[in-house]
Amino acid sequence: MEPVNSLVIVGAQWGDEGKGKVIDYLSSKADLVARFQGGDNAGHTVVYGANIFKLHHVPSGILNPNTLCLLGNGMVINPLVLVRELDELEKRGIDTSNLRISAKAHLILSYHQALDEANELMLADKKIGTTGRGIGPAYADKMLRRGIRASALANPELFGERLAEALPLQNRILKDIFGHPGFDLKEMIDLYRPALERLGPLVIDTASLLAKQMAEGKKVLFEGAQGALLDIDHGTYPYVTSSSTVAAAAASGTGLGPASVNKVLGVIKAYTTRVGEGPFPTEDLSEAGDQLRERGSEFGTTTGRPRRCGWFDAVIARYAARINGLTGLAVTKLDVLSGMEVINLAVSYRCRGQEIDYFPEGFDDLSQCEPLYKSFPGWDEDLSRVRAYEELPNAAKDFLKALEDSVGVRIDLVSVGPDRSQTIICKDSQIEIWSNTRQE
Ligand code: GDP
Ligand code: IMO
Ligand code: MG
Repeated sequence: MEPVNSLVIVGAQWGDEGKGKVIDYLSSKADLVARFQGGDNAGHTVVYGANIFKLHHVPSGILNPNTLCLLGNGMVINPLVLVRELDELEKRGIDTSNLRISAKAHLILSYHQALDEANELMLADKKIGTTGRGIGPAYADKMLRRGIRASALANPELFGERLAEALPLQNRILKDIFGHPGFDLKEMIDLYRPALERLGPLVIDTASLLAKQMAEGKKVLFEGAQGALLDIDHGTYPYVTSSSTVAAAAASGTGLGPASVNKVLGVIKAYTTRVGEGPFPTEDLSEAGDQLRERGSEFGTTTGRPRRCGWFDAVIARYAARINGLTGLAVTKLDVLSGMEVINLAVSYRCRGQEIDYFPEGFDDLSQCEPLYKSFPGWDEDLSRVRAYEELPNAAKDFLKALEDSVGVRIDLVSVGPDRSQTIICKDSQIEIWSNTRQE
C-alpha cells in the first residue's frame, strides 16, 4: 500500500496540551488541515513573534496561506462565534478564504448555550464545569435526530423552517424545566441572517474534497480538539466533553475510512493540567502545582479559568497511547520545568491498597487512585533558545528518556516555548517530513 501522507494530531491528556502550536508548526508542509470533532469549546493558541492567535473553530493551519482548512462533519459549529472569529482574523491580515464547512456539521444555536448554562446551574456541586458553549446540548440534538445541520446556512428558507420546527420543544424545555424566558423565532432569524450570508457560500461536501486531495497524494493534517481523557467513551465520564476525541474519530468526523488515519501524533505536556471538574490523580495542590500554573501561564484559552496543575502521569499517557494508537509524541512545555528542584513522574497508582500500572475502568476507582512517583533532579538552564535535542541539559534529557520509556511511544517533537520557532524535531522521527520550512 502507498504510504499515506496524513497525520492525526490529538491531545493525550485533558486538553490544552499545545495542539494549536504543534499543528501550526507542522502545517507549513500541509496542503490541508481538518478539524473533525468538538466546537468552540476548543481554544488553540498559535504564537509567532509578537502575534498571538486564539482559535476556537478555525483550524490552526489557517495562518499558512496555502493550506486549505476544513470544518468536518463531526464538528458542532456556532455560526455567530465563527463569523466573529473570521472577522477578527481578517482584521489582523489573515486570509480566511481557504476555509470550508461540511454541510453535515451541526449548528450550535442560542438555545444550546442557554441549556448548557441552565444544566450546569441545576447540577450545582455536581456540575461538569463545561465551557458554557452549548456543546453537550448541540451533540444531544444531533443524536436525537433533531439538530440543524450546516447545510441550512446555505439556505435561509430551510434554516427558518428547521428553526420553526425546533423552537417550540426547545422553548418548552427551557421555560418549563429551567424557568428561562425562551427564544423568539423572528428575533432568532434576524440574529442569524448575517451569519448565513457570510457562511453559506463556504458550505460544501468536505468529505469529497478531502478524498480527492488524499487520492492526489496531498499532505493532510487532522486537528483534534480536547484530549483523550475528555473523550465521551474513554474519558473520565461524566466529566468529559460530548464528542469522540480519539484519533479514530478523525476518520468518521471527516468522512474517510479508518486506514486513512494510521499515523497519530499525541500532544502531551511535560506535566499535566485539567480545567473543569473530575478526577485528576496527579493534581498537586501544594506550592509545586502553583509554580506550574504561574510558570506555564495555565489559564484557560476559552474561559480564562485557572487550570488545575500536577505532575506528568504515565498511567494516563499509556492509556491515551493505547486508545489513540499513538505512533509518536510531541512533548510540550518542557521549558516550564526549568528551575524546579525536583520533577515527579507518576509511574503507577495505589488503588484500594493495591498497586496498579493501568488506568482503572471504573470512575469510582480512579477517584481513589493515589499516584506513585519516580522523582528526577531538575535543571536550572533556560531552555527557550534550545533548538536541537543534543543541546538540552542532561537532566532534561534523562527526564524525557524516562517519560518516553514509561509511555512506550517515541518522542518526535519537543516544544520549549509557545513560539513557532521554539520547537525541536527529533532525528529520524515520523514527522521529519512535516518540519517547518517557513522563513521567520
Ligand atoms: P491546545 O488547546 O492544546 O491548543 O493548547 P492551548 O493553546 O489551550 O494551551 C497551551 C498554552 O501553552 C498556550 O498558551 C500556548 O501558547 C502555550 N504553549 C504551547 N507550547 C508551549 C511550550 O512548549 N512552552 C510554553 N511555555 N508554552 C507553550
Ligand atoms: P482544547 O481543544 C481543556 C472541558 C471543560 C469541561 C469538559 C466539558 O483547547 O484542548 P464542554 O464545554 O466541552 O461540554 O466541557 O471538557 N473542555 C476542555 N478542557 N481544553 C479543551 O479544549 C476543552 N474543551 C472542553 O473544561 O471540563
Ligand atoms: Mg486549549
